[in-house]
Amino acid sequence: MTSPQISIRNVSVQFPGVLALDGVSLDIPAGELHAIAGENGAGKSTLMKLLAGVYTRYSGEILLGGLPVQFRSTRDAERAGVSIIHQELNLVDELSVAANIFLGRERHGFLGWLDDRAMNAEAGRLLADLECQALPTQPVGELRVGDQQLVEIAKALSLQAQIVIMDEPTSALTETETERLMRIINRLRDRGVTILYISHKMDEIFRLADRITVLRDGRLVRTVEARHSSPREVAHLMVGREIQQGASAAVRNPGPVVLETRGLTQAWPGHAQQYRLRDVSLQVHAGEVVGLAGLMGAGRTELLECLYGAGRPSPSGEILLDGQSVQFHHPAEALAAGLALVTEDRKRLGLFDRFSVGQNITLCALGDSVRLGLVSFRQEQTQAGEMIDKLRVKTPGFDSAITNLSGGNQQKCLIARGLLTEPRLLLLDDPTRGVDVGAKAELYQLIDELCRMGMAVLVTSSELPELLTLSDRIYVLCEGRLTGHFVRAEATEQRIMEAATARQAAGRGQSSPPDSTSLFPLPADRGGAGRLGTGETTRL
Ligand SMILES: Nc1ncnc2c1ncn2[C@@H]1O[C@H](COP(=O)(O)OP(=O)(O)OP(=O)(O)O)[C@@H](O)[C@H]1O
Ligand SMILES: [Mg+2]
Repeated sequence: MTSPQISIRNVSVQFPGVLALDGVSLDIPAGELHAIAGENGAGKSTLMKLLAGVYTRYSGEILLGGLPVQFRSTRDAERAGVSIIHQELNLVDELSVAANIFLGRERHGFLGWLDDRAMNAEAGRLLADLECQALPTQPVGELRVGDQQLVEIAKALSLQAQIVIMDEPTSALTETETERLMRIINRLRDRGVTILYISHKMDEIFRLADRITVLRDGRLVRTVEARHSSPREVAHLMVGREIQQGASAAVRNPGPVVLETRGLTQAWPGHAQQYRLRDVSLQVHAGEVVGLAGLMGAGRTELLECLYGAGRPSPSGEILLDGQSVQFHHPAEALAAGLALVTEDRKRLGLFDRFSVGQNITLCALGDSVRLGLVSFRQEQTQAGEMIDKLRVKTPGFDSAITNLSGGNQQKCLIARGLLTEPRLLLLDDPTRGVDVGAKAELYQLIDELCRMGMAVLVTSSELPELLTLSDRIYVLCEGRLTGHFVRAEATEQRIMEAATARQAAGRGQSSPPDSTSLFPLPADRGGAGRLGTGETTRL
């Protein structure tokens, strides 16, 4: 019998205060697509980082093709044919796309100079293979998360790895981009590449995986054959309890309008599209969850950032809070006015690396615990503690470094920070990126409770089912314009997708559709149904 390509034998990893892996043993044959599932903090990324040479301190043994290996670095692992696409993207913002792909393996010309032309050409081919629009010469920092993720994938592809580890590769991708990735994964699989795939998305796991290993609290719970298992069984193995579902399906009763935008427009200097946002007029009521759908680049994040005083350049048009016109020049002003934003890019915009878990959570709510100019430590601790419990943040304690938390738990801290400010209007930009199924259900419940207490929520998500579960109404953006508006009863994935691609379908450069304001009257204006392009629109 031939040895399995990967053999993990009785592997344990101890971090300060956390036994991240506890005697894990697992064999994976060549060419298998093996999914790893588990709650946030279960040890998935840690296990993969051992295989990829990121963490080098562990007990137990790892064998590749029957031979024991002991990687001292990722470079070692790469040489042995193992490549990892990290959950927390690992790119250098200031460097170009091509430079990132070839970092540490730069191509040199005949006399030793850097062969930029060869690297750009090769990067261009890889990106084209991934159907990615980014240019090889563009600085990575300019790209949105979705494209950055594709750059990471291009890097792994360029290494021609035999074992590719993908740690939540679709967490920042839209549905279309996910489809594209599925095609790429299938091509890799056809070439005989072994793929280890971590995801919190059950549909993906069941579409792709031959077998699924479930981890819980650092232990291997079970490995199942995908075709003999079900999402329900896996979710159950993950959390060890039944997950509460459907809390937000009940009808809510919206109150008065909290937020209104009138003709909000943000210029996009130097870009063919000219505007990131164009003439966006919408309303959000108290006690209501409003979803914002759209493909990546449609302007969802830009809209939330403009509302939060973080839009650059500043938008034109009008923003009204409780009927009063407001202009925020800085997020601090928005925060003071009762807004909170949970950003999509936690690494770059959200978390403060040098602060502890507790400090990160209480950062924005300081106003409440400041007495005589001093922050009441105890109060800060109580507040953070409550949030940590409510959202089940898995951390050794209040003082732990935020960077030591698992990806999903870092995300929960950001959400906790937003909620702790008790905002009147909560802006959530893809809030459950990388959050496990159990915690998602709890978060939906929490949002529902807060809404029933009068909070207004404007939320984006790259997962349409999530938007459909959460939202009372959904606006659809396409290329910076509103192209659809649906109430819960009318909203389907199909209709939203049609509206989200309405302008692309109509073709670029053709005459613009009529003003969104006239097509999408504000919720107060109740009328019949209208049509735009291929997307059905429903007027409230
Ligand atoms: N460098 C580190 N130092 C200290 N603790 C760590 C470190 N890396 C991970 N941990 C801890 O080890 C545990 C497992 O983390 P890991 O990142 O493997 O979880 P995960 O299953 O990938 O979770 P997620 O779904 O949230 O990404 C967590 O409790 C985490 O806080
Ligand atoms: Mg992880």
